[in-house]
Amino acid sequence: MKGIVLAGGTGSRLWPITLGTNKHLLPVYDKPMIHYPIATIMAAGIREILIVSNPSDLDSYKKLLGDGSEIGVQFHFAIQENPRGIAECFIIAEKFLQGSPVCLILGDNIFHGSGLGRQLMENTEIDGAQIFAYGVSNPSDYGVIEFSDEGVPISIEEKPLEPKSNFAIPGLYFFDNSVIEIAKNLKPSPRGELEITDVIRNYMDNSKLHVSILPRGTAWLDTGSIQNLHDASSYIKVIEERQGSKVGCIEEVSWRLGWIEDSNLESIADRYANSPYGNYLRHLPRSREFGNDLK
Ligand code: G1P
Repeated sequence: MKGIVLAGGTGSRLWPITLGTNKHLLPVYDKPMIHYPIATIMAAGIREILIVSNPSDLDSYKKLLGDGSEIGVQFHFAIQENPRGIAECFIIAEKFLQGSPVCLILGDNIFHGSGLGRQLMENTEIDGAQIFAYGVSNPSDYGVIEFSDEGVPISIEEKPLEPKSNFAIPGLYFFDNSVIEIAKNLKPSPRGELEITDVIRNYMDNSKLHVSILPRGTAWLDTGSIQNLHDASSYIKVIEERQGSKVGCIEEVSWRLGWIEDSNLESIADRYANSPYGNYLRHLPRSREFGNDLK
């Protein structure tokens, strides 16, 4: 299973903040937004990760993330020339995937919850598609999925004005490799994009769609608007200060999964000098006895 993090787009809902920088590089409390989705797919055991972004922002991602070897993963980078929709990333990623199934996560989606990594690891051998549904108060802002009384998915719509359910589809998806052909055969939607919901509907129509409802104890936040971005920062601040541990810390995820050693963690911490982030990494090995909820 390989991973894609989609970090493109214009971020127009955040203008003027995103006129000079890419949305996914903005801070969500104490770390760049893109760290959270990367940490989520790493927690699913995925170590080969393609970052897809705009031509003008790719160098910033390379500077931020490097090649990943320091944290036991491989980062690859690819360009989406124009914002032609989420589903275009599968066409862009064809060579990278080399026939492998794929986990796609949107760069502005933050997930947090106990046991989430374990749950996601169950999807690494996939036949068809696995997506998630999450009850929200504002379904019209998202892809919306409707279920029959028996719990079978029966309709999927992108940002419907009159949603048929309150189940939004979060930006975290697992697909087998046929997703590339499906994406290639899509027609752009009225807004000119290859829609991820059209990909999902294709799997549904072929009875190859699996949907799990994310439990209420899992937080799903998206950070695409000013309000959401501020809320997400507040959420992370409250959780981190209360628990004394970080959410979305990619170095910690790697270390807890046994991909890097204490000594690797120490050298990364030294590079971050005396920032609170560096101090946190430096002290992690001492907290090992407090348990490891990633494994
Ligand atoms: C995208 C997808 C939508 C999904 C959402 C999750 O919308 O098109 O189906 O529910 O991400 O964040 P966007 O918010 O990028 O317009």
